[in-house]
Amino acid sequence: MKHVLTRMVQWSQELLAEVVQSGDLVVDLTAGTGQDTLTLFQMVGEQGQVVGFDIQPQALLATRERMVAAGALVRLQQQNIQPLRCEPGIDLLQMSHAEFSGVMPASPKGIIANLGYLPGGSQDLVTRPETTVSALEQGCSLLAKGGRMAVVVYPGHPGGAEEGEAVNHLFAGVEDPGFQVLRLDVCNRPEAPFLFVVEKKTD
Ligand SMILES: C[S@@+](CC[C@H](N)C(=O)[O-])C[C@H]1O[C@@H](n2cnc3c(N)ncnc32)[C@H](O)[C@@H]1O
Repeated sequence: MKHVLTRMVQWSQELLAEVVQSGDLVVDLTAGTGQDTLTLFQMVGEQGQVVGFDIQPQALLATRERMVAAGALVRLQQQNIQPLRCEPGIDLLQMSHAEFSGVMPASPKGIIANLGYLPGGSQDLVTRPETTVSALEQGCSLLAKGGRMAVVVYPGHPGGAEEGEAVNHLFAGVEDPGFQVLRLDVCNRPEAPFLFVVEKKTD
C-alpha cells in the first residue's frame, strides 16, 4: 500500500515494525485512545507484552476497550501500581511516563510516544516538556540493543512547539555512538507533526 508521505504516525509505526518481533516487550508512553497500543499488540502478538501509560483514566479505559475487542488479555492498574513481571498481555498503567522505567520488567524492543493531547479530550492534559524529556531519557537508557523508540511531536497546539524544541535539544545532544537518531519532518509545513526515531545499535 502506498504510504501517505507526510503521515508521521504511520512512519513511526512502520519504522518500529522493522525491529519489533512476535513475543517482544514494547511500550506505549502515551496510550490515549489505544490506537498505537493496538498496533504494537499486532506486532508482538499474544506471546508479547505491551505496556501502556497514561495519566487520564478515560484514556486507559478507552484503550482497554479497544484491546479487549481485539482479543487481548488486559491488566489495568490505576492505584498502588506494582512493578511489572514479564508476562504476555497488555499492561495499562495510570501513571506518568516520567517514572516509567521504575515499573518495567525488562528492556523493551520498541517504544512509542505520540505526544500532545488526547483526541477529543482536554487540551490542558497535554504532554509537557519536562516529563516528556525525562521519559525519553529513560527510554534511551532502557531500550534493548537493536531496539527503536519513535516520538511524534505536534507543534501546532499551545506548548507543542516548545515541547518539540525540548525533544530536539535532547536528541541532538546524544553523543553516544551507540545511538543513531533520525528526524523526519515536512519541510514546507512548519506546523505539521514531525518524528524522531532513536535506535540503540547492536554493537
Ligand atoms: C496524542 S495522545 C496519544 C494518542 C495515542 N497514542 C493513541 O493512539 O490514541 C497523548 C496522550 O498522552 C497523555 N499524557 C499526557 N501527559 C502524560 C504523562 N505525563 N504520562 C503519560 N501520559 C501522558 C494524555 O493524557 C493523552 O492521552
